[in-house]
Amino acid sequence: MLLFFFAAVVAGIRYEEFLLPAPSYAVELNSTEGWNLLTRQTTLSRSYQALSIHFETQVTESYCGIASAVAVFNSLPVPPVPVDPTYSPYAYWTQSVLGSDACVVGIHDPTYGSTRSQLAAMLGDCFPVKVLNVSATDSLADMRSIVFDALSDNATTHLVANFDRQGLNETGGGHFSPVAAYDPVGDLVLILDVAKYKYPPLWVPLADLVAAMDTVDPDSRAMRGLLVLAHKDNGAAAL
Ligand SMILES: *[C@@H]1O[C@H](CO)[C@@H](O)[C@H](O)[C@H]1NC(C)=O
Ligand SMILES: *[C@@H]1O[C@H](CO)[C@@H](O)[C@H](O)[C@H]1NC(C)=O
Ligand SMILES: *[C@@H]1O[C@H](CO)[C@@H](O)[C@H](O)[C@H]1NC(C)=O
Ligand SMILES: *[C@@H]1O[C@H](CO)[C@@H](O)[C@H](O)[C@H]1NC(C)=O
Repeated sequence: MLLFFFAAVVAGIRYEEFLLPAPSYAVELNSTEGWNLLTRQTTLSRSYQALSIHFETQVTESYCGIASAVAVFNSLPVPPVPVDPTYSPYAYWTQSVLGSDACVVGIHDPTYGSTRSQLAAMLGDCFPVKVLNVSATDSLADMRSIVFDALSDNATTHLVANFDRQGLNETGGGHFSPVAAYDPVGDLVLILDVAKYKYPPLWVPLADLVAAMDTVDPDSRAMRGLLVLAHKDNGAAAL
């Protein structure tokens, strides 16, 4: 144990680190201001109410897309809800079931992370889910209107953003996480970061998230962006 500790120190791993400092411009949900933003009358928080019940930590460092999808799949819910042996006899979407699904793995093995297009195909082709696959090259006004419509109270859709953490002054690179609420007064979005071991849910300016999505993913050489997800029979009209 002691040897392991010294080896870790030599390797530069700091075990005492618990969460990274949030970027200075971001507002943590677990602050008075962050909670006030969520509970403002004008804030679109329907998606947050549905996702917060199911939102979970990514189980591997490459499962951000899968973890984001699981939160959405349990919230809709996407049928048929599978029974993971871990929770038998209860039916519940889990990252283990979704990430090892034969159709998913046939499109792309999520063990290696995924691009926006791969995640769109994995979700849209393998499950009764309607996916709007949005490249972040649209204007800020267009992106705002997509976010507003997808998160509005009368919609049944949820959003998963694919962005470069560097664009938000966060530690890391390409990432997926649900965007669960929109504050039209401050033009802020709430990111439910599935790397819960790094960041709590953060409010950031929509313009900054769009800039972080409007970046090239070296794996696809395409722009990152947004997935709008809906139940195929029950909200597809919204797309
Ligand atoms: C939010 O919670 C995390 C721990 O979960 C803590 O590190 C951080 O300081 C909290 N933020 C505020 C504003 O209280
Ligand atoms: C997603 O959109 C990109 C263009 O931004 C396109 O190249 C790709 O084929 C699309 N993928 C799916 C699965 O719709
Ligand atoms: C929700 O209502 C707004 C107007 O308030 C409308 O623009 C939008 O199309 C509606 N969305 C759905 C999914 O019905
Ligand atoms: C990130 O930090 C740089 C340098 O402090 C700053 O210029 C930039 O505006 C920050 N980005 C965001 C999204 O706030």
